[in-house]
Amino acid sequence: HRRFLRRDVPARRPAPLRGRHRRRGDPSLRPEPFDLVEVQTRIHNLLEVRLLYKKIENYNKVLEQTVQERTGELLRANEQLSQEIEERKGAEKSLQSAYAEIKQLKDRFQAENIYLQQDIDREFNFGEIIGRSNALVQVFFRVEQVAPQDTTVLLLGETGTGKGVVARAIHSRSAHKDRPMVTVNCTALPANLIESELFGREKGAFTGSDARQMGRFELADNGTLFLDEIGEMPMDLQTKLLRVIQDGEFERLGGPKTIKVNVRIIASTNRNLEEEIRKGRFREDLFYRLNVFPITIPPLRQRKEDIPLLVNFFVAKFNKKTGKKIETVSKDTLNTLQDYHWPGNVRELESVIERAVITSQGTALQVLDRFENSRKAGEQEARDDGKALGEMEHDYILQVLQKTGWRIEGETGAAVILGLNPSTLRGRMRKYGIRR
Ligand SMILES: Nc1ncnc2c1ncn2[C@@H]1O[C@H](COP(=O)(O)OP(=O)(O)OP(=O)(O)O)[C@@H](O)[C@H]1O
Ligand SMILES: [Mg+2]
Repeated sequence: HRRFLRRDVPARRPAPLRGRHRRRGDPSLRPEPFDLVEVQTRIHNLLEVRLLYKKIENYNKVLEQTVQERTGELLRANEQLSQEIEERKGAEKSLQSAYAEIKQLKDRFQAENIYLQQDIDREFNFGEIIGRSNALVQVFFRVEQVAPQDTTVLLLGETGTGKGVVARAIHSRSAHKDRPMVTVNCTALPANLIESELFGREKGAFTGSDARQMGRFELADNGTLFLDEIGEMPMDLQTKLLRVIQDGEFERLGGPKTIKVNVRIIASTNRNLEEEIRKGRFREDLFYRLNVFPITIPPLRQRKEDIPLLVNFFVAKFNKKTGKKIETVSKDTLNTLQDYHWPGNVRELESVIERAVITSQGTALQVLDRFENSRKAGEQEARDDGKALGEMEHDYILQVLQKTGWRIEGETGAAVILGLNPSTLRGRMRKYGIRR
């Protein structure tokens, strides 16, 4: 025990001893008495120091471990973070492309839907006449000019261009708008009936007529009489008509009494009347009486920009009629419709849309009809230019009949394609001498 103290303790803790030795002489030569309390204190201190070392050592270990753990955690967190950043970046990228796609879809939807925004386009239209092409705006202008006057109007244009709707527009803007417009369709009636239709007949005027009949001229007194397809009127009736137009006078069939009327006349034809005059089928003097204020309605192929508006209008019309809910018309469909040359004009377009509304599934309009391509239509146009309207109609009817194998009636018959009643078509075939 002592040896341990003498050798070891001073060696380890020399400082406090040295002072004492200096004071008392050479310590190696002289044994010294122990200060027990001091020794105990030293031992105690010593043990405590060791304990502290141990503790520090342990702390160090723990610290090191903690640091290691934390470093690992940090590294992992860092890794995770950069992974997250990568993911974010990726997400952002796909979000951006999703946005782009949405924008594209939105654009397309708007482009398609624009044609269904009826209300916006309404104000550009003219009453029930749809369209705002320059060619049609010219027509509206002429209508506005002439409507309030009692002037006779001659409406010219191919079949189905809208001569009937223009006649109604004139009437509804005239002073007689509160009275109905009386129409006589000269194609729909056999020649012998046109006369009594127009001028009326007394009882017993001809066999089977046991009642007096008022003619359309009388019915239209102080109003408007619309003579539809005046080009079809027989020559002898043309003479009578001329007299009413000039003097406002006529007699009923089978009656001597002269009747006076005040009637505003609107006449229409799809024939070239000058041509008809040359061929001796139309009275020149009547033509001049009718041709006071001619309005020519351009064919649909010359105002393609009206096609989307018309498609929209007819889709809405047939939606209502059929209870369907067609909401969009694709650009492709519109392009197809605009490329076609529409020999049957608006009437033909109307029946194509009616058919399409009925057969379409879902909310997009599907047009199943096949149309001749536009190049062919262009050639047709070039050929058409030099021809009279009647001649064009003749050719077109013939062409359609040949295509349908001379079938007139039924869904695939020529009448449907031409947009005519089968009886009207037969009448026109007779007129042009079209036979198989
Ligand atoms: N601009 C238009 N806007 C709306 N509907 C139209 C327009 N033009 C024509 N239509 C419609 O097209 C169809 C044919 O028109 P309309 O009967 O007036 O032609 P038309 O020129 O008198 O033909 P036709 O010479 O064969 O008698 C009708 O159902 C009519 O309502
Ligand atoms: Mg008509």
